[in-house]
Amino acid sequence: MTIDVAISAALVQPEQLKGKLAVVIDVLRATSVICTGLYHGADTFVTVDTVARAQREINRLNKLLKKQKLEDINKQIKEDWTLLLRSLPVTNYTLLAGERNGFKIDQFDLGNSPLEYTPEVVSGKTIILTTTNGTLAIKKSMVADELIIASFLNIETVCNYIRKAKKDVCIVCAGTLNEFSLDDALCAGNIIADLVAKDKNISLSDLAFAHKNMYKTLASKNLHLPLKEACSHYTYLQKNGFSADLNYCLKKNTCPILPKLNGDYITL
Ligand code: MLT
Repeated sequence: MTIDVAISAALVQPEQLKGKLAVVIDVLRATSVICTGLYHGADTFVTVDTVARAQREINRLNKLLKKQKLEDINKQIKEDWTLLLRSLPVTNYTLLAGERNGFKIDQFDLGNSPLEYTPEVVSGKTIILTTTNGTLAIKKSMVADELIIASFLNIETVCNYIRKAKKDVCIVCAGTLNEFSLDDALCAGNIIADLVAKDKNISLSDLAFAHKNMYKTLASKNLHLPLKEACSHYTYLQKNGFSADLNYCLKKNTCPILPKLNGDYITL
């Protein structure tokens, strides 16, 4: 198995991904949001790159899901006519979610704080998500043979999956505004360090080797310290009132699931 790393969504090349397993990371906060949402019962994430596309997608999906639901209800009524006498509210099956500059987009249902994605809010929903870097990294990684979503929240499940997949891997860090971001790099390094610890035959690209050692040197004991000192997106979120998100996103293995791209959508 070989492991390579792309340091930002802007820098990932299609040739790096062809025939490989893409592991997309946006610790702060898009892939942490996806892990939390699916862990708390959301049905599907539809990730799109622009706000306009998110708005088009929600109209299309709402129509489709309402039609499907009505067909299901009609079928049930044939089996149990008393259902007609009961109220069957056609609720909203979709939520529009995402951020620009870290904040919820006007008139969207949810922002990009994983703490908003509680079971009460997301259970059974299809969530259309657009973020500045994370959803772009997912879009650019769709040419890979397979695509999975990683964060600290599901890091062990991700490592187990990679071990079993026995495929060449490209870890795609979303980065921040086209540039390297230390939060994603440390998560990539942690994944690589864990994989190499159990399999000495894995071959690492220069960047994969550097990420593994960066994690071991800087952060194997405490993730917050190096991020506080050097991660601009960490300090940006801290200054703007999202400290609780930072604590949440840096905890390991609290959502032990594997979000995966199926067709155009991310599901379990
Ligand atoms: C992104 O995709 O750019 C990030 O998730 C930004 C954020 O922290 O909201």
